[in-house]
Amino acid sequence: MKTKIIGTGHYLPEKVVTNDDLAQIMDTSDEWIRKRTGIATRHISVDESTTDLSIKASLNAIENAGVDPKDIDLIIVATVSGDYLYPNTACQVQKAIGAEKARTIEINIGCAGCIYSMDIADSYIRSGKSKLALVMGAETLSKMMDWTDRRTAVLFGDGAGAFILKAVDDNEEGGIEAIMARGDGERGDTLTAGGRPLDNPWGHLDSPAGKYTYMDGQEVFKFACRKVPESIHEILDPLGVKPDDIDKYFLHQANIRILETVAKFLKQPMEKFPVNMSEVGNISAASIPTIMDMYNKKGLLKKGEKYILCGFGAGLTYATAYVIW
Ligand code: UT7
Repeated sequence: MKTKIIGTGHYLPEKVVTNDDLAQIMDTSDEWIRKRTGIATRHISVDESTTDLSIKASLNAIENAGVDPKDIDLIIVATVSGDYLYPNTACQVQKAIGAEKARTIEINIGCAGCIYSMDIADSYIRSGKSKLALVMGAETLSKMMDWTDRRTAVLFGDGAGAFILKAVDDNEEGGIEAIMARGDGERGDTLTAGGRPLDNPWGHLDSPAGKYTYMDGQEVFKFACRKVPESIHEILDPLGVKPDDIDKYFLHQANIRILETVAKFLKQPMEKFPVNMSEVGNISAASIPTIMDMYNKKGLLKKGEKYILCGFGAGLTYATAYVIW
């Protein structure tokens, strides 16, 4: 068996915050944000939780795939901004959509989370343990920001995106042809947010990281520009597939300059690199399913086309898939 993407979905909160809106509350400008990142607006939740966004994106993907949620046997939600430590977000989604027989997993991988989830689901499907999986990224990153820190707060947004994955026969056309995922824990301190530190009647530890997101932007930028092309070659070269053969590169939407640098490394035109960060900002694990769903709903994903999906971020981590649509 192999894994095929048979549906996509996303959900964005209604409120749109522009760069000019941010310039009202911190020392920044529309010009700086657009020029240095490519971001113009982002969606920010005012009354919806990560669980709410997850459920709405899931239902959207289920409708797109035309499947019965009762047949879903695996749910993986990638998030760094879940509402509870427990129960996890996947259990909340399960309850809402009525996927009674699903395994329910939440993973904390940061911006590579959805492709990591896809890697896990692909293993379940190839081993025969899953026939129909819901994998998604969902984030309310707005609660993870220090809204006085212009270096991070202008970059991120809220949203959720989902894929429905199905087990299909190996001889069926299309599917996930190759997928990899990796961590580089040595560089973990370049992108952090604190968890709950040890605190009990016998001991106490200070949190190793601050309450809000800290990012050494330039280090993460360099990491992405090196690892994205490397990982693409790692999965394509053994298959004899060349970067020229790829129709679209769906990269994590962190910064337009990362896409431009990767395009240059791979000697590919920017037209092959879909962009929605201008509209939604960096929505971490939700980024790739959201942009793919936008393309899908506009009829821009074509049967037989070859795509690269690549996420990178906190950990540091990265994950890359080669998919034939
Ligand atoms: O999603 C997870 C993965 N994340 C990423 O891939 C992010 C990768 N990194 C980046 O995208 C970029 O490094 C950033 C967008 C985060 C920053 O861009 P940069 O070109 O690396 O800027 P910088 O941090 O080197 O800052 C340059 C200048 C500094 O001023 P000085 O020290 O040169 O006077 C900053 O204080 O720009 C200043 N600056 C700002 N100015 C206006 C930083 N943020 C802002 C801002 N508005 N929002």
